[in-house]
This record gives sequence, structure tokens and C-alpha cells, in this order.
Amino acid sequence: MIIKHAPILLAALLMAVLAACGTPATPAPEFPPTLELPSRVPVLPTADSRAEATAPAAPTAVAVEPTRPPTRTRPSATPTITLIPPTGTPVPPTETPTPSATPQPDPERGALLFANGIPSKPEVPTCASCHYVEIVEVNDLVGPVMHGIADRAARRDPNELSAAAYLRNSIILPNKYLVPNEGDKIYAVGGMSLMHQTYADELTPDQINDLVAYMLTLRAQ
Ligand code: HEC
Repeated sequence: MIIKHAPILLAALLMAVLAACGTPATPAPEFPPTLELPSRVPVLPTADSRAEATAPAAPTAVAVEPTRPPTRTRPSATPTITLIPPTGTPVPPTETPTPSATPQPDPERGALLFANGIPSKPEVPTCASCHYVEIVEVNDLVGPVMHGIADRAARRDPNELSAAAYLRNSIILPNKYLVPNEGDKIYAVGGMSLMHQTYADELTPDQINDLVAYMLTLRAQ
């Protein structure tokens, strides 16, 4: 039976195939669009012919993008990390030396102290009450004029190692070296200076340093 019907079956299959082929054959117009699509796609590949000229442009544009990200990342990350630590580190040391620098001799503080004395100790006489700083025709104060003391200080006492040492001892040990009397001007009596005698107890070491620093600026020029 099967053999007898085989032709029929084959015919049926052929019909089915033909029918199937016939169906797609109807929408034949669809091929054009399908062909057009590939034709569009190939346009790009067609550029392969121009590839040599076009290709360089494409890769260049692509490479630009990757190049930018790394470029931005590297500099921004590196400086940010590097700058923060150093900036924070130097600050503390700068603040630390500042307080230690405070005790450094300050001529300006010395000038104020020389002229105005110690605000908290008004009973202590000011240096200016006995010493002129500028040149005067008549010295009507008890002590010698200080103008040019920075130049004279090193030559006063041969036992002093420096001008600063002489000036310092003139304050805390006023009788160690006595300025010679000048004519009728008497600076010492009986081996004792007429200068105030107790500055060593009344002035702090920093105040004495400031006074010395100030007097070292009083040059004859
Ligand atoms: C009561 C007056 C008097 C006061 C206050 C006084 N001095 Fe004198 N000073 C003298 C007399 C007097 C001499 C000179 C005799 C001597 O060598 O000590 C002198 C000498 C000096 C000398 C040496 C001057 C030189 O030409 O070699 C210095 C420096 C000095 N005084 C600094 C000071 C300072 C700084 C103060 C303030 C902290 C001060 N004196 C306050 C009276 C005074």
C-alpha cells in the first residue's frame, strides 16, 4: 500500500514544497528591501576601498576617547593624593616653630619696653627715664645717651666678649663696668652705678633679650 501511495505522497510533498515556495514567492518584493539593507551595510565595508583613507580617521576617533579618560584620571588622582599629605604635614611644623620663635629677641618689643617700661610693674623705672635714645644738646638725664650704643658697646669693657654681652650685663650687673664720668656728668659714685640696680629680678630673660636686641639697633649712623 505504501509503495502504491508513494507517488502520491511524493506528489503531495512536491505540492507542499511548491506551495511553500509559492508563498514566499508572492512577497517577492520583500527581497528588494532585504537586498537594500545589505547594500547599506556593505557601504561601510565598501569604505574598505577607502579604508586606507577612512580607516585612520575611525581608529583615531576611537583612540581619542580611551586616551582622555586615563589622562584625566592619572593627573587628577596623582596630584590630589600627593598634595594633601604634604600640605597637612608642613602645617604642624610651621605652627610648632612659631611658639618656640616667640622667645626670640624682638627689637620692636625691646623698644616699647625701653620707652614704656613694664605695664604690670609701674613701680619699675623705665630705661627712657634715665637714657636719651636720640642725640641731645644737653643730657639732663642721669644716664649716658644711648645714641650709637650699638657701636660703643663692643669697645666699652675689654672683659666682655661681645656688644650683646656688654649690653646684657649693663642691665643685670650695672656695677660690673662703670661708664667713665664725662666732665661734670657723674654716672657712678663710690664704685656703684647710679643706674637702677634690680632689673635682674624685675625683667624676664625674654624682656632682657628684647632690650639687648633693640639697643643693638641704636647705631651712630
Ligand atoms: C636711674 C637711672 C637709670 C635707669 C632707670 C637706667 N639706667 Fe642705664 N645707666 C644709668 C647710668 C648712670 C649709667 C652709667 C653708669 C654705668 O655704667 O652703669 C647707665 C649705663 C647703662 C648702659 C651702658 C651705657 C654705655 O654707654 O656703656 C646701658 C647699656 C644701660 N644703662 C641700659 C639701660 C637699660 C636697658 C635700662 C632699662 C632697663 C636702663 N639702663 C635704666 C642709669 C640708668
